[in-house]
Amino acid sequence: MGKENIWLLIVGIYFIKTCAPLSNTTESPLSKNSTETVVDYSDVESKFSVRTAEEPDEDVCYLIPGKPETIAQCNFNTEGQTFLIIHGWSVAGLFESWIYKLVSALFEREPTANVIVVDWLHRASQHYPTSAENTKLVGQDVAKFVNWLEGLEYPLDKIHVLGYSLGAHVAGIAGNLTNSKVNRITGLDPAGPSFENADSLRRLSPDDAKFVDVLHTNTRGTPDLSIGIQRPVGHVDIYPNGGTFQPGCSLQNTMRMIATYGFYNMDQLVKCSHERAVHLFIDSLVNQAQQSWAYRCGSKDSFNKGLCLSCRKNRCNKLGYSVNKIRTTRSTKMYLKTRAMMPYKVFHYQIKVHIFNQKNVSLVEQPLKVSLYGTHGEREEITVTMPGMITNTTISFLVTSDVDVGEILMIKMQWEKDSYFSGFFGANEFMIRRLRVKSGETQAKAIFQTKEGEFGYLKQGGDTLVFVKSKENPVSRREERLHRLKMHGSFFKQGMNEAEKEMKENS
Ligand SMILES: *[C@@H]1O[C@H](CO)[C@@H](O)[C@H](O)[C@H]1NC(C)=O
Ligand SMILES: *[C@@H]1O[C@H](CO)[C@@H](O)[C@H](O)[C@H]1NC(C)=O
Ligand SMILES: *[C@@H]1O[C@H](CO)[C@@H](O)[C@H](O)[C@H]1NC(C)=O
Ligand SMILES: *[C@@H]1O[C@H](CO)[C@@H](O)[C@H](O)[C@H]1NC(C)=O
Ligand SMILES: *[C@@H]1O[C@H](CO)[C@@H](O)[C@H](O)[C@H]1NC(C)=O
Repeated sequence: MGKENIWLLIVGIYFIKTCAPLSNTTESPLSKNSTETVVDYSDVESKFSVRTAEEPDEDVCYLIPGKPETIAQCNFNTEGQTFLIIHGWSVAGLFESWIYKLVSALFEREPTANVIVVDWLHRASQHYPTSAENTKLVGQDVAKFVNWLEGLEYPLDKIHVLGYSLGAHVAGIAGNLTNSKVNRITGLDPAGPSFENADSLRRLSPDDAKFVDVLHTNTRGTPDLSIGIQRPVGHVDIYPNGGTFQPGCSLQNTMRMIATYGFYNMDQLVKCSHERAVHLFIDSLVNQAQQSWAYRCGSKDSFNKGLCLSCRKNRCNKLGYSVNKIRTTRSTKMYLKTRAMMPYKVFHYQIKVHIFNQKNVSLVEQPLKVSLYGTHGEREEITVTMPGMITNTTISFLVTSDVDVGEILMIKMQWEKDSYFSGFFGANEFMIRRLRVKSGETQAKAIFQTKEGEFGYLKQGGDTLVFVKSKENPVSRREERLHRLKMHGSFFKQGMNEAEKEMKENS
């Protein structure tokens, strides 16, 4: 059975789950003389559970639209901001464990906020197409709730809605039905099936809030089979690791887990990449010191070549809670790499190198090992696959490090044999004069030259080439001059000020 078939099987099992019995309990009738007598809330079936930092997984108090007394009863902080969490399709009809983790993380970051979990479990635990259709009803409920809060003079500018999977589309539908726009909607891997080609009124879209940001983490396969929506649906759409599949969620891992735990755990396994969107957002809340950055790029392939690490004109942005609210007319697709676990941040580098030779050599899919040594630390033997290596061309590739090495001072590079036979008839080699390196996170650029001689030989299956930071770099030359001037002290103060001015103008 091929990888693709296994995947289809898994998706199949995931979607052909039997329906949970439909419960027909309705809300208790609402008081007739609340302040909002004009609006009929009797059809609001969704529940709005006000969570607390102390018991993030417990439903202790519900806000009931049309019942203003519940505001005080639930200790709703009218001065604080409000997060509304909307879950997605539920196989078991139960809250999933990510909910309380997200609740806790929100409180950790914003202790005075209100965190409300929208409970639409009954409507979410139907056959998938039915639940997908139910997003309309739940969206109406949420819109009524938001309008009710606004009627009580709670500013919608303080509302941030977070919707996962189908919940992202609930947020979108709600956002379109509210009297005014809420401040922000974050779509966490919005569901794909039934929505990929739906018009913007039926799904999440940039019109649905003042600002809409989206994480796409499981957009694998053809559009109708992709669990997460593939098209951009917000102002900022981030595709971590290309958006298709997340590290640590590989099929091998999945099969290993099945061998260990059996098919019983299938749902959790399939959801690994899908749910990663939530955990990336949690990471952005609690690991502020390890903020992940994403970079605007035309395609996943260009990103993987390291061609998109620019931050000019808002080309880069923070992933998650602290995103800069850049509203462009066209959605921007952004990319980044991550680790397989929290904290997810990695450091991105573009390495550009001209490879030359007398002999005409053209190779594909070559394995390289790159080691980075910097002022803060080192990261050795990062595996990189070169898509193509052709004589007398400049190649560009992306290297990521899960270690913050600081300013890079030395780089080592080794070309591994791709098979036993490669190099059997005389090893291939290229000459390299220097490396150009650009850091995405610091935007710093540097040039590295071979440690010995004018150029080095990168040989298939051969020795490691060592490159050291070059003085050639114009930026560092200016910095050096400034440093020199500072060393001379106040005697040259005049000159130093000029140098500083020059640096500012040139940077
Ligand atoms: C709800 O359940 C009761 C019995 O428990 C049944 O009589 C009634 O028809 C049901 N209503 C709906 C709308 O299914
Ligand atoms: C609602 O009606 C009850 C009695 O019917 C009354 O005691 C209460 O004050 C009313 N509340 C409001 C908000 O009008
Ligand atoms: C709802 O969506 C439509 C179509 O995208 C848009 O024209 C309208 O302004 C939206 N309404 C609100 C309140 O966002
Ligand atoms: C190298 O190969 C390319 C195509 O593979 C060819 O166009 C070019 O003329 C060759 N150059 C030399 C010097 O052999
Ligand atoms: C590559 O360029 C160098 C000059 O930079 C030249 O001497 C060499 O012949 C070229 N190799 C090929 C295969 O064209």
